[in-house]
Amino acid sequence: MTDGRPILMFDSGVGGLTVLRELRLLLPYEPILYVADDAAFPIGAWEEEPLKERLLNLLDTLIRRYQPKASVIACNTAFTLAGEALRAAHPDHPIVGTVPAIKPAAERTASGLVSVLATPGTVRRAYTKKLIDSFASKCHVRLVGSDHLASHAEQELRGEPVSDDSLRAEISACFLEKDGLRTDIVVLACTHYPFLANRFRRIAPWPVDWLDPAEAIARQVVRVLGDDLSVRPADFHDRAVFTSGQDTAALRRLLAGFGLELSGGQQRF
Ligand code: DGL
Repeated sequence: MTDGRPILMFDSGVGGLTVLRELRLLLPYEPILYVADDAAFPIGAWEEEPLKERLLNLLDTLIRRYQPKASVIACNTAFTLAGEALRAAHPDHPIVGTVPAIKPAAERTASGLVSVLATPGTVRRAYTKKLIDSFASKCHVRLVGSDHLASHAEQELRGEPVSDDSLRAEISACFLEKDGLRTDIVVLACTHYPFLANRFRRIAPWPVDWLDPAEAIARQVVRVLGDDLSVRPADFHDRAVFTSGQDTAALRRLLAGFGLELSGGQQRF
């Protein structure tokens, strides 16, 4: 047992909260520090080199400053780019990553037609291509890069509705008909997207499985921690840090719904 060192959860925005809600079900007593690099959002649009450098520097600062017991990179765009280098830089620190759920999709598909819905960065990654070659070589995998869905999810969560047409424009390329067969699985390969999954279900041209890896990531955190579980101090508040320093009533309300208190003021990164 340890004394309340937090689990660090990292994303570029609110997407990692889809992983946080699953983690809380399995580990309700672990203190959480949620960090969003929203100053860089959307990171799916960044070039690889500057983004990798930024991620490695920022996570290095966070790990030194907050001494988390483990870090969860709740972001496909970040982990597929910098996960390996991050682990190499912190060999004694447990790091759980998020990668497109291509392997489970390939095991589950009946039609063999699978789509991967992700940020433009994630669909370009060598890591993603390697997952397809290693686990889905018998499937027809269509990579669909979306420019706007992560921002749409941010908007929706702040109570600013996004139209069906805007969502349809981003997901329609996922639906493929070939030789009498149809796409039957869409991998949600950006942690923001599960927040929109109910909308997707309603507007999809036919029913598919929308694969959300959040629960599997939470289970992996449980495995990695083993017996190293916390005794939460009575006055502990799970905290969130947003690198831009944004501090609005809407954000505070949203975070409170996930049991997080925003650390206000300008944090320097
Ligand atoms: N939530 C992030 C992911 O899983 C990406 C969002 C962004 O583009 O910043 O890929």
